[in-house]
Amino acid sequence: MKRVLVLNGPNLRRLGTREPDVYGSSTFDDLVALCRETGRRLNLHVEVRQTDDEAEMIRWVHEAADERLPIVINPAAFTHYSYGLRDALAQRTAPLIEVHISNPAAREEFRHTSVVAGVATGTIAGFGMLSYVLALQAMADLLAQEETTPS
Ligand code: DQA
Repeated sequence: MKRVLVLNGPNLRRLGTREPDVYGSSTFDDLVALCRETGRRLNLHVEVRQTDDEAEMIRWVHEAADERLPIVINPAAFTHYSYGLRDALAQRTAPLIEVHISNPAAREEFRHTSVVAGVATGTIAGFGMLSYVLALQAMADLLAQEETTPS
């Protein structure tokens, strides 16, 4: 079964209490359960992690690059300013999907820039928790294509 990392940046462990008008009422534990359940349905082994620490996030991205692991990432606020994270993600050796719960393009100006989007396979934003389900579905398709495409 193919492993996929679902990485979450700062403040996302506070889902449920954090600005519920923007991010909804589901908790981080709900998100973990949803991703695992989606993984089971898609035959993917999904591992969900969260950190508020940029260095830890970058270490996880290096681990993924070394182990050729696909990543679904919600970089949260790192999205908008972390060149360190972008440079780590640029080393990817497997598909990378950027996700957001809200639609940053429809919010404050500083959220309109994603410094990681340019190194991602694609981005899914604005569908609440469903963004993660859509990202995992897209990832399953990408991985299935890779398996059938001769290199
Ligand atoms: C977010 C959007 C970011 O702008 C914000 O900093 C977050 C969450 C989202 O999922 O909508 O923390 O990535």
